[in-house]
Amino acid sequence: MANPSPLALIVFFLLLILTISATEYSRPPPKKIIAMRSSKPESHPQQVHISVVGADHMRITWIADDKHTQSLVEYGRASGVYDKSATGEHTTYRYFFYNSGTIHHVKIGPLDPDTVYYYRCGGIDDMYSFKTPPASLPIEFAVAGDLGQTEWTSSTLNHINASNYDMLLLPGDLSYADTNQPLWDSFGRLVEPLASARPWMVTQGNHEIEAFPIFDWFHPFASYNHRWRMPYEESGSSSNLYYSFDVAGGAVHVVMLGSYAEFGSDSDQYKWLVKDLGEVDREKTPWIIVLLHAPWYNTNAAHQGEGENMRRATEHLLYEARVDIVFAGHVHAYERFKRVYDNKANSCGPVHITIGDGGNREGLALDFKKDHKSASLSLFHEASFGHGRLKVLNRTHAHWSWHRNDDSEATVRDKVWIESLSASGACGAGQTTELSASGKDEL
Ligand SMILES: *[C@@H]1O[C@H](CO)[C@@H](O)[C@H](O)[C@H]1NC(C)=O
Ligand SMILES: *[C@@H]1O[C@H](CO)[C@@H](O)[C@H](O)[C@H]1NC(C)=O
Repeated sequence: MANPSPLALIVFFLLLILTISATEYSRPPPKKIIAMRSSKPESHPQQVHISVVGADHMRITWIADDKHTQSLVEYGRASGVYDKSATGEHTTYRYFFYNSGTIHHVKIGPLDPDTVYYYRCGGIDDMYSFKTPPASLPIEFAVAGDLGQTEWTSSTLNHINASNYDMLLLPGDLSYADTNQPLWDSFGRLVEPLASARPWMVTQGNHEIEAFPIFDWFHPFASYNHRWRMPYEESGSSSNLYYSFDVAGGAVHVVMLGSYAEFGSDSDQYKWLVKDLGEVDREKTPWIIVLLHAPWYNTNAAHQGEGENMRRATEHLLYEARVDIVFAGHVHAYERFKRVYDNKANSCGPVHITIGDGGNREGLALDFKKDHKSASLSLFHEASFGHGRLKVLNRTHAHWSWHRNDDSEATVRDKVWIESLSASGACGAGQTTELSASGKDEL
């Protein structure tokens, strides 16, 4: 072929650029980290966040720089009237030259459902308030993974705040402190307005590990486990890295798995999971939702295969228990799959959703593979920052929507009704499900 003339080349490239810009939504770039400094006196509580413990208790966690602040929470149902109180415990940790403030954990209750409580921490008159989750359906979850602390995070938080959610579920990667400990404090301040007002239930991602292999006296997850203590003992787990809880009077069972804890069939996590799922009575609990960090199904070029060992080890347990939905993070994009099991469409398997697009500083994972072996299982994907909302309306129906942070406008990009597998007679989730520890269910 003859060489094209320079003019033809220029025209060709101009056309190419025009075509690309006409068809592609232009991806906003990552945004700056927001550094949140404390403007409060040392004795005052900061980084306040709450998490549910059992059916009617709440754990209030906060940090004070002053070592003498008491582990005390006073609370009540009227603004400024604290007619009840509880004391708890406190802890600190060191990380190289960093000394944490005093981290307080106080469990309060029993609390009434769907009720606003006002509270203060450490006897200091900074008033906070939260609303307890409802005792029955409906319930609304906000779901956001890989949150970080950038201007995109802030935009995600504003969009979540504008919804009337009852509880936030986070499938791992909180602060992106990446061993720079003051960034954990900054993250705590950034999320406080939301995390002090609704329970935030989290599991770990790879950014929570923060281990230094050569200095093995620095335990992995030191910061995460001290700051984000979850109700693991209450669900019979021996580790803060995996646990479960019930909400909406037991209508929804949420299982938080640890992608970075051992999961092989002789591990504690595996044995705990067998027992935990085995104890769910689908008559009382029509919904089971699982969260973990590294996705088992993923057509994005990022993090291919990283969830595969865990999938091979534990997917059959989730399938046999008829888990309804699995949320993952890790990949900085959104993707929703068909109901799947063992790499095939399966109407009795969970819906897998990757929601790792909360707003972290690493930016988006743009490259979805059209020729990926799971491409035919993937129903929707998009690389944009955003969050999800899961409204569990009744025993049979839940509505899922994914909301993109499109500048300041909230934009719904994906929505779908999800039917509980316990409602589907064909999958037999209404009856007691036999869990075989040995595994493979022939389809
Ligand atoms: C959240 O929304 C409420 C009103 O719905 C508002 O008063 C509050 O300032 C908002 N908080 C944040 C952090 O956006
Ligand atoms: C559950 O909610 C869905 C959606 O609103 C509705 O179609 C269905 O009839 C409801 N089921 C029951 C048992 O109320």
